[in-house]
Amino acid sequence: MKVLVIGGAGYIGSHVAKAFLKAGHKVTVFDNLSSGLLMNIFDGEDFIPGDIRHPDDLDRAFSRGFDACVHLAAFKAVGESMVQPEKYSVNNISGTLNILNAMCAHNCRYIVFSSSAATFGSPQYLPIDEKHPLNPESYYGFTKLEIERFLAWYDKIKDIRFAALRYFNAAGYDPEGEIIGLERNPQNLLPITMEVAKGWRKELQIFGQDYDTRDGTCIRDYVHVSDLAEAHVNSLSYIDRENKSLVVNLGSEVGISVTEMTEAARRVTGKEIPARYVGRRAGDASALYATSALAKELIGWAPRYSDVDTLISSTWKVYQKYDKNPYA
Ligand code: UFG
Repeated sequence: MKVLVIGGAGYIGSHVAKAFLKAGHKVTVFDNLSSGLLMNIFDGEDFIPGDIRHPDDLDRAFSRGFDACVHLAAFKAVGESMVQPEKYSVNNISGTLNILNAMCAHNCRYIVFSSSAATFGSPQYLPIDEKHPLNPESYYGFTKLEIERFLAWYDKIKDIRFAALRYFNAAGYDPEGEIIGLERNPQNLLPITMEVAKGWRKELQIFGQDYDTRDGTCIRDYVHVSDLAEAHVNSLSYIDRENKSLVVNLGSEVGISVTEMTEAARRVTGKEIPARYVGRRAGDASALYATSALAKELIGWAPRYSDVDTLISSTWKVYQKYDKNPYA
């Protein structure tokens, strides 16, 4: 199929674009490069610079004719969304409506959307399945949930079929070593841990040691980006084959604490990784992990690279290529 990967120069997007290319699809990347990188665009992919906030940019892109699009062009910092909701409204919400309307105007019938476990909010039970109540605790999570609802309406009224993929904690890098762009100003645990291992930061701050978990630190479900990427390809096949939309969780089903992740990072990198326990970070749930049984059943998805060692070693390999922080 002809697939437009919106946000395809970003960290997750580049892995997704690669997976579609490898599966034999014709891939075009659309990205405004606000956090995406040109070095993340592969030979064999077309590139259209553009911004989802500008309907004209989308009109120009979709007029080339696409069977499907994948939408990963979102701001994703939970903390920032609570301070600057306007930014998330305009980009995540209005930008997505612009995409949906451009799809309607140009007869593109399929969309695979990066949703998030942030749509659930604090867990009422674990593991989290797709029936778990949806109570986002951040404005970021709210934007993802609202978009899922827009998608359902466009499905009903305009016959657009969608896959909303609720990622848990995306981590790791392309095991084949072809994607080596570092995220600018990373906010997540693993890249921050790598920056400490490289000596680019003095220490890792571990947020909270008094949670009701086995070692007092928060538990998360880390899932490899290449596994996530494969789920996008499988989802598009599903909605095409079944002519039915899809909402699924994507997690490794394994809960890892921050302390366990830090110790594993020390072992895998052979670096000391100084860490200090500090106070809790606002908005963190104590434990979050998924059941991905539905993804397994419907799209035949099973994570292949989401074990802790592969998550860390594939990331460490990329950081080892850099003598210094490219953004310092
Ligand atoms: N953490 C630290 N120190 C740090 C960074 C993180 O202790 O410097 C801890 C956090 O407190 C949390 C865990 O590491 O307990 C993971 O934190 P991340 O910031 O990496 O990820 P989150 O779980 O907060 O959020 C991520 C994505 C969201 C997504 C969510 C879904 O960033 O976009 O997973 O589970 F919605």
